[in-house]
Amino acid sequence: MKTKIGGKELIEEAAKLIKEGEVVAFPTETVYGLGADAFNKDAVEKIFKAKGRPADNPLIVHLSSKDQLNKVAIDIPKEAYILIDAFSPGPLTLILNRHPDIPNITTSGLNTVGIRFPNNKLAQMLISKSDTPIAAPSANISGRLSPTTGQAVYEDMNGKIPMILDDGKCQVGIESTVLDLTKKPYTILRPGAISAKMLAPYLSDVKNFEGEVKIVTAPGMKYKHYAPLCPCVGVKKAKNAINHYDKVLDTITDKVVIIGNDFFLNLIPDKYNKISIGKTPTECMALFFDTMREAEKKYKYIILQNFEDYPEFYSLNNRIEKSTAHIIV
Ligand code: TXA
Ligand code: MG
Repeated sequence: MKTKIGGKELIEEAAKLIKEGEVVAFPTETVYGLGADAFNKDAVEKIFKAKGRPADNPLIVHLSSKDQLNKVAIDIPKEAYILIDAFSPGPLTLILNRHPDIPNITTSGLNTVGIRFPNNKLAQMLISKSDTPIAAPSANISGRLSPTTGQAVYEDMNGKIPMILDDGKCQVGIESTVLDLTKKPYTILRPGAISAKMLAPYLSDVKNFEGEVKIVTAPGMKYKHYAPLCPCVGVKKAKNAINHYDKVLDTITDKVVIIGNDFFLNLIPDKYNKISIGKTPTECMALFFDTMREAEKKYKYIILQNFEDYPEFYSLNNRIEKSTAHIIV
């Protein structure tokens, strides 16, 4: 299959493809999505196939207007409307009770459904012109780094889907916060740019999910994620990054790189290969996946800063931990 890639000029054609039950990749403010009509089970099946995604990992349903809410969810609590007013469109996914019209495949048979309103003009146009909610996971091959540019989607999806809508770099850079509103205490199943602290003024009882994923809460959490093509280890301290770099340099000549934020890299002499992902948590989130995709092409071994000791980097560190094979303390 030939994969067309382009911008706004392709929007009508993209909407037509969705209506015909095809899969189209599209930009959102978080990461690119791989979309299909949420009500069309054959179309949704194509998403799972293109990504190589396990069937027990449900998809998020993307909406462009509040009128669509009652078509995808039932028994919607008032908290949902409050949060939608406060944070949508934006990087927040709410888990609600599923409407029976949503096919089993979209939610992997769960009685709940994740919904979100993406904050990207092309995404919103695609949903409204297709005249249907769009189910979409991140547009990467399952297990790979999430795509934050149209080019990254092309790397993973060329030949597998008919079209990629390209809108350059995603501003947020990591996937949406997933918040379960179906039971109390309300739980963040996947951290994102909207933190528990930001949600707390609107919810009496909200907490981050802690501990092992034994039962199926957010099925996606149990899978291996975000693995770069080369080995990648985490380090908390700059001096340990240097020591480890020197150690692996014997076997992997000059193809080692240290990735971290500006403060961390300032402690590392310039003779070492290093790439910065910025300074603040917001900057680092925006650049993380793209930097990792660049690095895995140029280098054979990645040493990645671990931010576990910095609470303001909590959401980014969740992705970093899933990218690294192990941490050198
Ligand atoms: O920012 C995002 O959320 C991006 C863009 C494209 O919107 N999408 C995304 O989708 O990250 P995906 O499929 O890569 O991750 C969805 C996560 C998975 O961990 C999945 O298990 C969880 O959300 N999820 C979806 N529906 C759920 C449900 N009904 N109950 C619990 N977890 C759910
Ligand atoms: Mg994903």
